[in-house]
Amino acid sequence: MDIYTRVFFTAGLVWAIIALLLLLIAWWCAYTKRSLLLHRRLMIILTIAAWLFILGYLLRYILPDVKPLKISSHLIPWFAFHATIACIPLFGAPLLIWARIRPNDSSSLNLHLNKYHKRYGRILIPLWAFTHAAGVLNFFLIY
Ligand code: HEM
Repeated sequence: MDIYTRVFFTAGLVWAIIALLLLLIAWWCAYTKRSLLLHRRLMIILTIAAWLFILGYLLRYILPDVKPLKISSHLIPWFAFHATIACIPLFGAPLLIWARIRPNDSSSLNLHLNKYHKRYGRILIPLWAFTHAAGVLNFFLIY
């Protein structure tokens, strides 16, 4: 396995564990309403980090000397499932954030997202947590 892939997946493993913890803290902050500011900050950090992770992953495809991973064919449905679930918070979280940071925008989409923030968030956070937990498993499947 090339050095970029090795470093990237190891950093990804460490980040997946930290992110899982931060997600739980962010949820707890919102659930107990103890610190909505921390909830806001953590969700923004986690969303930016998720996109950076994806960009880092995609970088593998354009870097020279980085070979495609050899994945056993029986694992492909699992990886496809994992990637599909991952896309839901990846696109859903920026939408929730975008709506929250523009409270004066009275477009119907913004109003809808802010009205149902809690409901969508309660779907997105477990899917996101699953994505990271599966990411930890994937590290050991790939190595
Ligand atoms: C700028 C970013 C964000 C701000 C300012 C924010 C703010 C808030 C606030 C004020 C609440 C309290 C309830 C309410 O007003 O509806 C809340 C609840 C919640 N937020 Fe966020 N939020 C942000 C981003 C996110 C994101 C990206 C997610 C998930 C992907 C999320 C998930 C949740 C959940 C699950 C709850 C409900 C907690 C519970 O009672 O179970 N939030 N948020």
